[in-house]
Amino acid sequence: MLFEFQNPTRLIFGAGVLKRLGKLTRAHGKRAMIVTGGGSIKRNGTYDRAIASLGAAGVTHVECTGVEPNPRITTVLHGAQMARDEKCDVIIALGGGSVMDAAKVMAAAVYYDGDPWDMIYHGQAAPHVPTRALPLITVPTLAATGSEMNAGAVITNEKTTVKSYVIADVMYPRVALVDPELTLTVPKDQTAYGVCDLITHVTESYFNGQDGTPLQDRFAEGVILTAMEWGPKAVANGNDLEARAQVQWASVVALNGWVQAGVEGGYPVHMIEHVISAHHDIAHGAGLAIVNPAWMRFAAKHRPARFVQFAQRIFGLQPKHAEDMECALSGIDKFEAFLRAIGCPTKLSEMKIGDALLQRYAQDTLRVTPDEKGRLPARPPMNEKDIVEILRSAL
Ligand code: NZQ
Ligand code: ZN
Repeated sequence: MLFEFQNPTRLIFGAGVLKRLGKLTRAHGKRAMIVTGGGSIKRNGTYDRAIASLGAAGVTHVECTGVEPNPRITTVLHGAQMARDEKCDVIIALGGGSVMDAAKVMAAAVYYDGDPWDMIYHGQAAPHVPTRALPLITVPTLAATGSEMNAGAVITNEKTTVKSYVIADVMYPRVALVDPELTLTVPKDQTAYGVCDLITHVTESYFNGQDGTPLQDRFAEGVILTAMEWGPKAVANGNDLEARAQVQWASVVALNGWVQAGVEGGYPVHMIEHVISAHHDIAHGAGLAIVNPAWMRFAAKHRPARFVQFAQRIFGLQPKHAEDMECALSGIDKFEAFLRAIGCPTKLSEMKIGDALLQRYAQDTLRVTPDEKGRLPARPPMNEKDIVEILRSAL
C-alpha cells in the first residue's frame, strides 16, 4: 500500500444538529444560496427549521430550488448564475445526493466563465479541473451517496444523454451537517436504494482493489454488515431514528475516502449504472441493485478467492477450499436476495428496460475514463463485449 489521505470536511453528526446550521454558515459568509430539490423538505418542515437557524445567525438567503434526481447541467448553470447575481458568499445544499452534487458544481461554476460541462469527465481531451469554488455546507436529507463528505459530483447532460462525474479538491464541503432526523421521512424505496448505494460504494473497492489490504477489507465488511443489520429496520419503520442514524453513518463512511485509502481500483458498477440512469432516469441505487450482482457473477470467475471471502465473512458460508466457486456464487445469490428483500429491483425488466440499447450502454460506459487499452478499469478490465454480457445477464 502506498497512499495519501486527506479529507478536509468538518463532519458534525447526530440527531438535532440542524439547529447549528446558522452559526456554522455565518463562519463562511453572510449571504447564502440554499440549493434544494423537488419539495420534500418543504413538506416535512426541514426547510423552515433551516431558514430559522440562518435568520437567527444573521445570514440572509436566496433559494435555488427544483434540483431533479439525476441532476442536470442546465440546472447547475442556472444555480451558478443565481449565486453570482445574488452575490452569495456561501452555498448550502439541503437535500439528497442530487442536490449536493448540483450544489458542488454550482459552487465551482461561479468562478468559471466557460461551460460547466467542461468539468465533467465525458471523454473530452482536457477536462477543466476547477481550482476555486464558493464554500459549501452540505446537509443531507437522505442516506446514500456520501456526497456530503467527499469531493465528487455526478451530473447529467440531458441533451447528449451522458451522466458522469467530476472530482476536485475544491468541491470538498467545508462542513457536513449530518442529522439523521432529517431522513425519517425518506420513503421505503429510496431508503432501500440508499442502502444498496452505500454497500456498493465499498464493494467496488473491495472487489476491484489491489491485494494485501486486510484492514481496509475489514472496514468494508463492517460497513456492509452494519448496513445489512440496520438497513432493513430503517426500511421497515422509517421513524426508527436509531436505524436511520446507523445507516446514515455507514453511508458517510462508505465514500469519504477512508475505506478506499490504499486500495485503489475502479468503480465499474457505478460507471455502468450511470449510463443506465442517463438513458432511463432511474434512481441510482435501483440501477446499482441490478448491475452489481450481475457484475459480481462475471468478476467472480476471475477472482474467486475474493468472492469466497465475501461469502464467508458476510454470510457465514463455509467454502470447501479457497477458490470454491459454488460458495462464491452462493454468496452473490444471498446478496441479491438481501437486495430484493429490502425492495430493490435486481433485473432491468423490472424497470421496463429491454435489450435494445445494450451495446450503446457499453459504448457510452467505455467513453468516460477508459484505460490505455480502451477498457473499463476494474478487476478484470472490461471491454464492450464483457459489459454487454453482464447487462444481458441482468435482463
Ligand atoms: O427532490 P426531493 O423532493 O427532495 O425528493 C427526493 C428525491 O425525489 C427524495 N428525498 C430526499 N430526501 C428526502 C426525500 N423524500 C422524503 N424525505 C426526505 N428527507 O428522494 C428522491 C431521491 O433523491 P436524490 O437526491 O436523487 O437521491 P440520492 O441521495 O440517492 O442521490 C442520487 C444521485 O447522487 C449521485 C447519483 O448518481 C445520483 O445522481 N451519486 C453521487 C455520488 C457522490 N457525489 O459521491 C456518488 C454516488 O455513487 C452517486 O453516483
Ligand atoms: Zn453510488
